[in-house]
Amino acid sequence: RTVYVDGSYVAEQDAKVSVFDRGFLFADGVYEVCSVLESKVVDFDGHMRRLRRSTAELDMGLPWTDEALLEIHRELIRRNDLTEGLVYLQLTRGNPGDRDFDFPAADTGPTLVLFTQTKSLLESRTGRDGIRVATQPDWRWMRRDIKTVQLLYPSMAKMAAKAAGADDAWMVEDGLVTEGASNNAWMLSHDGVLVTRELSSAILPGITRAAVMAIAEVLSLRVEERAFSVEEAKQAKECFVTSATSFVTPVIALDGVPIGDGMPGEVAMKLRAAYIEESR
Ligand code: PDD
Repeated sequence: RTVYVDGSYVAEQDAKVSVFDRGFLFADGVYEVCSVLESKVVDFDGHMRRLRRSTAELDMGLPWTDEALLEIHRELIRRNDLTEGLVYLQLTRGNPGDRDFDFPAADTGPTLVLFTQTKSLLESRTGRDGIRVATQPDWRWMRRDIKTVQLLYPSMAKMAAKAAGADDAWMVEDGLVTEGASNNAWMLSHDGVLVTRELSSAILPGITRAAVMAIAEVLSLRVEERAFSVEEAKQAKECFVTSATSFVTPVIALDGVPIGDGMPGEVAMKLRAAYIEESR
């Protein structure tokens, strides 16, 4: 596989980043994941808008235009013959030469890495059959609106959910669902209202979340942006998650309690189909 690192396209075994890189030592970096369908990048503009916001919030420079970044995405897709999967982009504050908590002077220059992964997105077992979710306390930091590479806790929460017999975790704070370990959480109430948590520093502003909100409007589905409790979700008609690589994925059980009839929800599947239709 060919990867991109700091201006060059190289074989993955030849790609190198310094041990002093602040991404490695301090998790001082941000990332984006764009899905690829039929060799085309999905929702690129939205992901780049969020990347610019993440870097700005961290006083990190982003010395590339969207056009330049899109060209790197396309070149990697070409070189790796990728038809379906994802492109991962990571930008770190770079290598200041020594380990130091202070941010280095701006002239250190960031480290930009991109790579592709092949993944079946359209025909996925989870997209068809849904996932079981287990709750975990949300023990992440308080700036979850910034897409940083500090993913140790989400990784631990996912492992704990799997140990509890589920496929993924929903994180909970003060009895209210914040979001999934790597996706946004949704429910459909019995009176047909889609509910997903309002944007704040408590959650990541999902690009797929925004796209699904727009689709819901076209389909004349009501959306309420507010927090919901674990109890409310357990009694919901449907639950589902959204993310770049899972699109819309039904949630069929929450902490062992079946959601609705324990089968993928009709509205979730309709939104999934509409999102895929719009993205290809
Ligand atoms: N995760 N919330 C969290 C905590 C996430 O990590 C993600 C994405 C989302 C959904 O955002 P979007 O719709 O823009 O993908 C919500 C990516 C896919 C990942 O870490 O692999």
